[in-house]
Amino acid sequence: MNHLIHLKHQDRIGWIGLGEMGYNMASNLQRYLASIHLSMTVWNRAPARSAKMHHHGAHVTKTIEDLVAQSNIIFTSLANDAAVEEIYARLITLAGEVNHPIIFVETSTIYPALATKLSQAICAQNPQHIYLQCPVFGRPPLAKAAKLIWVTSGDEKAIKKMCLYFTTMSKSIIHLKTPDVAKACNFKLIGNFFVVGTMEPLAEGLTLAEKSSVPAESVLKFVETVFPAPTWVEYSRKMRGQVHKDEGGFSVDLGLKDVGHMRQLAQEKGASVPVADVAYAHLKQVHDQGLGHQDWTTLISSLRVNSDLPTYSEV
Ligand SMILES: NC(=O)c1ccc[n+]([C@@H]2O[C@H](COP(=O)([O-])OP(=O)(O)OC[C@H]3O[C@@H](n4cnc5c(N)ncnc54)[C@H](OP(=O)(O)O)[C@@H]3O)[C@@H](O)[C@H]2O)c1
Repeated sequence: MNHLIHLKHQDRIGWIGLGEMGYNMASNLQRYLASIHLSMTVWNRAPARSAKMHHHGAHVTKTIEDLVAQSNIIFTSLANDAAVEEIYARLITLAGEVNHPIIFVETSTIYPALATKLSQAICAQNPQHIYLQCPVFGRPPLAKAAKLIWVTSGDEKAIKKMCLYFTTMSKSIIHLKTPDVAKACNFKLIGNFFVVGTMEPLAEGLTLAEKSSVPAESVLKFVETVFPAPTWVEYSRKMRGQVHKDEGGFSVDLGLKDVGHMRQLAQEKGASVPVADVAYAHLKQVHDQGLGHQDWTTLISSLRVNSDLPTYSEV
């Protein structure tokens, strides 16, 4: 126990990326740190989001340089591969300039080859640096409630140490028990494939029900009774517009990124994912209408438009 307390006080945590997921995750971690009289350092591209963390007791820094100088553990939660590459280009350079070893914990959903590339580049700067790829499952309300599912890959010893922090943000942790950081990206894309594979039949079934004058409420009740899984129930309700605008979500544009990665992974590995191909076309249609910022359950609007029904927007 003494050993753990010692580790906690040695650790200086930095957090980069305070979007829908990053803000909620970082808030929970900061709450824990505050309970042991510690605080983390945060940086976000848009300063307004960092300012919110100041109210939780985090130290807000204006520069990534400052954050790296002050941290020996750095979490990142960024929108897409381009953002991760851009930020890590800076982190890699800075990692070569500091004297202390750093554990990088990358939590975004990115393509597997990028994780491998970043891990190699970080370690090339200093073999004592460690790069972990630890993507998460769960939407922003679950992140807020500290009920995410974390997936870990990378150096086993570092993961063991990080578990203390992961548990402050999660309901469970899936350890892939591999030093290969690409594996967690593969796993995350496959997990999201199951999610998008749930959305597609829901969208098609709800559209067919409306065209057949079957009451939506009856269909939702059927879904709740026969498929009482959170994803089925929540997504069918979202597709009927039964969700408040302020409830954070997962955008069509982020969905296109993930489904695009699934399709690329399948092609690379010689597998096929026709469900992902269909869902991609529907998400693309919504994006092309200028609605890429909306929750990805609005995928249903492309089926509705194609069936001569009016589109929905979130209430
Ligand atoms: N939302 C979900 O349900 C969910 C669930 C599981 C996993 N994820 C994954 O988690 C990651 C974050 O998702 P999110 O929903 O939090 O996205 P988000 O709300 O769009 O936040 C994205 C974050 O990335 C930052 N960012 C984007 N481009 C950047 C750049 N070029 N340089 C620096 N910062 C940049 C944004 O900064 P600004 O504030 O300055 O824009 C923001 O902090 C994504 O990889 C996503 O796929 C999301």
